[in-house]
Amino acid sequence: MACMPDDASIPEPSRKRQRESVLETARLSVRRLTEEDAPFILRLLNEPSFIEFIGDRGVRSLDDAKTYLRAGPIASYQQHGFGLYLVELREGSVALGICGLLKREQLDHPDIGFSLLPEFWRQGYAREAAEAVMEYARETLGLTRVLAITSQQNERSAGLLDKLGFRFERNIRMTPDGEELKLFGAG
Ligand SMILES: CC(C)(COP(=O)(O)OP(=O)(O)OC[C@H]1O[C@@H](n2cnc3c(N)ncnc32)[C@H](O)[C@@H]1OP(=O)(O)O)[C@@H](O)C(=O)NCCC(=O)NCCS
Repeated sequence: MACMPDDASIPEPSRKRQRESVLETARLSVRRLTEEDAPFILRLLNEPSFIEFIGDRGVRSLDDAKTYLRAGPIASYQQHGFGLYLVELREGSVALGICGLLKREQLDHPDIGFSLLPEFWRQGYAREAAEAVMEYARETLGLTRVLAITSQQNERSAGLLDKLGFRFERNIRMTPDGEELKLFGAG
């Protein structure tokens, strides 16, 4: 996997290029998150739907959000060459949510993750972003198998995974006394 250098070691013009999109779709631009996205992440991670279906990351301030970004998505870009990305409307660069790939110790293959602010649900944006991320995973990253995990009651997410070609495989726990989750696989 590509190993990305720290932003601080990159000259300014290249740093700007790094903020360009990872991929584009008809309506969306998907790009790497930076610490400057802390205000958006603070809001998204405190949405009741995010806390219910994904979990409470304990991000309560802009500083918390910056720490989350550094230790999560930004560290993942450096370690694996991929991570969660920001999903924006191409028109006006309005941030809608996040979508991308994670590599967790407990799983043998990367898994796809997505979450949008509720006002952007039911317009096909999550599907558009996730389909493009799956194509990127296969064509650019060369991944032959991608997983997904959801809580038992997350039917909206399961419906989207079905449309993306994922199939339910089994129930799993990420920690011995953790919640039982559904594991889906594609490929
Ligand atoms: C999971 C989540 C991203 C799904 O978002 P979504 O907007 O429902 O997903 P989609 O992009 O597939 O949108 C599908 C809906 O848009 C509608 N739609 C409208 N315009 C559309 C278009 N141009 N193209 C496709 N669908 C369109 C579809 O008909 C469908 O409507 P329906 O839900 O009434 O059947 C969102 O619910 C979310 O952020 N949840 C909280 C976080 C979460 O649970 N993340 C997953 C953790 S595993």
